[in-house]
Amino acid sequence: MSTRTQAWHLRAGGTSLIVDTIGQFCPRVSYWGPEVGDDPAVVEAVLESQGLSVPSGTCDIPLRVGVLPEESAGWLGEPGIMLTRGGRLIPVKLHTTRVESGGADDSPWPLDGPEGQQVGAWLWADVTDATAKIEGRIEIQVTPSGIVRQRAHIRNSGDEPLGVARLVPTLPLPTTLTQIVDQAGRHLRERQTQMHEATIGVHHRPTRGARNHNASTILGAAVAGANARQGRVAYGHVEWSGNVDQWVERTPFGHLVLAGGELLMPGEIELARGETYSSPWLSATWGDGFDAASAKFHSYVRGFTAHPSRPRPVTLNAWEAVYFAQTFEGLSELARLAAEVGVERFVLDDGWFGSRRDDRSGLGDWQVSEDVWPDGLQPLARMVHDLGMEFGLWFEPEMLNMDSEIARAHPEWIMGPRDREPLESRHQQVLNLTAPGVVDYLEDAISRLVSEVGIDYIKWDYNRDLLEAYDRIGGGYAVHGQTVALYALLDRLHERFPDLEIESCAGGGGRVDLGIMRRAQRIWGSDCIDPLERQIIQAGTSLLLPAELIGSHIASPTSHTTGRTQNLQFRCLNAQFYHLGIEWDLRRASEVERAELAAWVAAHKNIRDVSHTGSLVTGLQPDDATRVVGAVAEDGAQAYYVVIQTRTSASRPAGILTLPGLDPDGMYRIEAPIIANNAVVGLPPDHGGHGSTLAGAPAWWASGVIASGAFLAEVGVAGPIVNPERAVLLRATRL
Ligand code: DGJ
Repeated sequence: MSTRTQAWHLRAGGTSLIVDTIGQFCPRVSYWGPEVGDDPAVVEAVLESQGLSVPSGTCDIPLRVGVLPEESAGWLGEPGIMLTRGGRLIPVKLHTTRVESGGADDSPWPLDGPEGQQVGAWLWADVTDATAKIEGRIEIQVTPSGIVRQRAHIRNSGDEPLGVARLVPTLPLPTTLTQIVDQAGRHLRERQTQMHEATIGVHHRPTRGARNHNASTILGAAVAGANARQGRVAYGHVEWSGNVDQWVERTPFGHLVLAGGELLMPGEIELARGETYSSPWLSATWGDGFDAASAKFHSYVRGFTAHPSRPRPVTLNAWEAVYFAQTFEGLSELARLAAEVGVERFVLDDGWFGSRRDDRSGLGDWQVSEDVWPDGLQPLARMVHDLGMEFGLWFEPEMLNMDSEIARAHPEWIMGPRDREPLESRHQQVLNLTAPGVVDYLEDAISRLVSEVGIDYIKWDYNRDLLEAYDRIGGGYAVHGQTVALYALLDRLHERFPDLEIESCAGGGGRVDLGIMRRAQRIWGSDCIDPLERQIIQAGTSLLLPAELIGSHIASPTSHTTGRTQNLQFRCLNAQFYHLGIEWDLRRASEVERAELAAWVAAHKNIRDVSHTGSLVTGLQPDDATRVVGAVAEDGAQAYYVVIQTRTSASRPAGILTLPGLDPDGMYRIEAPIIANNAVVGLPPDHGGHGSTLAGAPAWWASGVIASGAFLAEVGVAGPIVNPERAVLLRATRL
């Protein structure tokens, strides 16, 4: 066992990560961030610069914050590893026994399967504590997109069961990042990004309940004043759909660390001899500005095996059109109108099964309701297919109403204490997927319907938080097992039906994470479709996910969740860059509205070629009443920008529009009109006396303006005066 410091430099995608080990300690990441060059002297310099001096009142050697920070190494902050035997915490002192590292060619991770992973550079470190009778491995990757990933495994090599109370990998953050960045939310208002001073202490953001609208999907730090385009930011994400434990901690000894793993309850993980527990991956990005940092995540996620490769079909989801009032006549008329406006996927939502006529009964009984669908779902699915659309169906497989056949037949399948039910939420309880027979029941029921009805897409919903998640049969807390079983069920369905697409919906955007995105092709961003709210939710979501995975719908004129009424162009432009959908009873839309909607759907079919493979960018404005979101093609040849006026600005016009992300040396024509169905749509006329979109336009508006990418990013062009709750679309074409 070496007592010498050894260091490894992993480099990929513009990111460097330096790991160092001394035999008697756990490996430590001493640096990650912008590439530092391959000169060994640079690595030496990084290592030396990380050797903090020993302050008074601390241990006698400099504190090394390992990947799993331990008390035995002098760390008195939040521990990264806590193990028990016989219910008691045991002392742990990890020694590094072997390190292996390599590059893309000799990566030990498979490329296929849900966890398949492209790796640019990697390292494995075997760790052990012979006294505690544990062996472990720390895995570190830098992906070709520049994402840093870490996870840890612990194996019990003793006879007595080993309890894992915590195994949470840690990454250092530069102490120059003085602001904590995280996200908070609630139903209808998910992923609101917030920043505040990183004072000394722990900013702990665990997620309990498996799905949780208040989940901090990302967590990290930034320099004061960082925004979309400027200022160093670094943040991580835990790739896990169960309970998550994560924090940022600043110590009085000059450390700022980011930690992320699974939140484990006492007794939840007990390893018999030879068994291993693996933490989820903590993946992290950095960048100068949030656009640059999120671009790394987008390119990383686009490399997932599950990532869709065909164009994202424009979807009509029938939920807000009919709610539970399903009839063949009504839905077939809606399908006909959907096809007419250019929809490519028609989704039948909640209410088609069992006694589910409202949200109080029938959930869990996955048999087509004969009352509502006397001839089954085939006639509707056939009609949808004949109209040239895919057929999607809603399920909420992990749930049940107490008033259901399944709850009556299998009360032991419900998660909760043995002697009582947990509190109901939306009148429902959670099925224990770890109970024998449950996953088989769900796989059979879903598979049968997929084959018989001809289902191309499942909207997989999850409408309550998981409270008191006890396994009634085996005893003990079971969120870990539940998450593993959910992944297995999704994997089995994908194996059986390789073309089946799945959307992760959880009362809107309650389950957005990269564990589920290795098995799903879309998320439903929120149940709030009001563009004013949705803009912020989409911006928060796109700190992790690329646009093509974020479902965004054009809803009815008056939002069902906020009561605001907004014009069609504003609603359409809010959704253009994402996985576009419609959630509106088109039977109530006028012919003029449907024609305009059809033009926007047609426009989207061009725009998605850019926004679903390119990069999302943000134009900085002097005033946050104006938002400028752009989508730039991968090759920089084309871009679209949406200028959204949320309220009136302090000045009129609001300011110069900067249009970032283009090839700095390329010359571009910027124009307002867009082409759809070979017709110039431009600014479609407003309807119903809502007033106009523009209160003034700059001189170039009618004929376009030509400028270089550098000029557009740095100087910008005069923008129009856009009225509040209105938006316009600009297109940039390289000449
Ligand atoms: C919550 C989802 O987010 C909605 O879109 C809809 O599917 C309902 N559940 C149905 O119960």
